[in-house]
Amino acid sequence: AACADDDRATLPGPTPTTWTAPAEPLRFPEGFVWGSATSAFQVEGSTTADGRGVSIWDTFAAQPGRIDDGSTGDPAADQYRRWESDLDLMVDLGLQAYRFSVAWPRVVPAGSGEVNQKGIDHYRRLVDGLLDRGLHPAITLYHWDLPQPLQDAGGWAVRDTVDRFAEYAAVMFEALRDVDATWLTINEPKTTAMVGYAGTEHAPAIGDLDAGLAAVHHQLLAHGKAVEAFRAVGGQGSIGIALNLMPVYGAPGAEAAASRLDAAENRLYLDPLLRGEYPDEAIGSAAGQLNADRAAFDALVLPGDLAAISAPCDLLAVQYYGVAGIDKNGTWLEVFPPSPASWQQVHAEGLYEMLVRLTDDYADLPPLIISENGIPDPDAQGQIEDPQREEFLRTHLQQAARAVAEGVDLRQYYAWSFLDNFEWARGMTQRWGIVHVDYETQRRTPKASAQWYSGVVKANAVAP
Ligand code: NOJ
Repeated sequence: AACADDDRATLPGPTPTTWTAPAEPLRFPEGFVWGSATSAFQVEGSTTADGRGVSIWDTFAAQPGRIDDGSTGDPAADQYRRWESDLDLMVDLGLQAYRFSVAWPRVVPAGSGEVNQKGIDHYRRLVDGLLDRGLHPAITLYHWDLPQPLQDAGGWAVRDTVDRFAEYAAVMFEALRDVDATWLTINEPKTTAMVGYAGTEHAPAIGDLDAGLAAVHHQLLAHGKAVEAFRAVGGQGSIGIALNLMPVYGAPGAEAAASRLDAAENRLYLDPLLRGEYPDEAIGSAAGQLNADRAAFDALVLPGDLAAISAPCDLLAVQYYGVAGIDKNGTWLEVFPPSPASWQQVHAEGLYEMLVRLTDDYADLPPLIISENGIPDPDAQGQIEDPQREEFLRTHLQQAARAVAEGVDLRQYYAWSFLDNFEWARGMTQRWGIVHVDYETQRRTPKASAQWYSGVVKANAVAP
């Protein structure tokens, strides 16, 4: 396993590895689950309906200059009201599963204390609507919409939020205890910590690295405590966390820089979850990628925390968008095809490499799912003909199949996203859906990629 790490650091350099797909379709295992994904704030709208509280994204989006086009979470894709026809469309497309998120402020409007039955009822109806249609629910508990009152008390930078999350999670486990769902605790803790707390491009826009690192630990601990609650409730189904992972390639001579960046991007999350320890290289004013006081970080980690974080899960959810390249001075390199999303360097082989690496490096790895994977349309209008998305999905599914053929235990796949939606700081200007949304009328039109994906699901195989 250690040697796989070493190989990777020196491997492709600025020249990506490539692989040629065989001429025949690549099959997925029987029982493989195919779906698409969204999140509450990005699609629901109706942000004041039925007793919903205020989230940090409502606050952030209301501030001038935060969102490219000034849009907010209302109406987004209006799914709070249109969920039934959206589920029908999933059935028309032959999809088998839907990954959505529960808005914490709908269920516990103030973040702690009073539970809002109307919020629970909404998600109960949605889940029953899925089950009635034979669709599998994959439910994310935290996809970035923290109740504002919790942020006013420090948000993920403070430990109290951990227990508030576990309480809210327990409410949902109880409410859906009879459902065989795939539960995802926290979506992309790295993005929240690094872009929302260390950075300012996302809510709550704190801009302090120490707060970002505290947010890393508290989100991972919140995940661990939620898993404990799930086991205590005795819910059906399976549970895990969703991590955005990114292979890091060093240019020749940049092995050390690549290893540090890999520690910060990947191992800072993987190692505590799967080995019960934080990697030395990730944080530290001397050798760490994240230039912060390591002792201050370690002081946040109380006895028992790492045991809770590393308690066994039923799955690990991987979100894969692309790779990073770095030179020996620590400068990020743009050596792979860029996408309309500035942070995305597309390299399908990186997905294969990441899946194999996880399998090689982590002895206690649970089964994997891919909970997000996708690319935006080239322009703000979007297109019904989207050959670039079909190409992206095809090449990535080929790499997933290649990994499965080599022994990776991959069970589910969710394309990001089912619908065009509110893309955070990019607002409605960046469209990631396999289904186009006309924001004037909220009319849904499957893009060519959705029709193509439908064929993949039907065949349980991806053709070259
Ligand atoms: C990851 C996030 O989970 C999702 O909300 C976002 O829309 C996609 N990446 C695309 O940026």
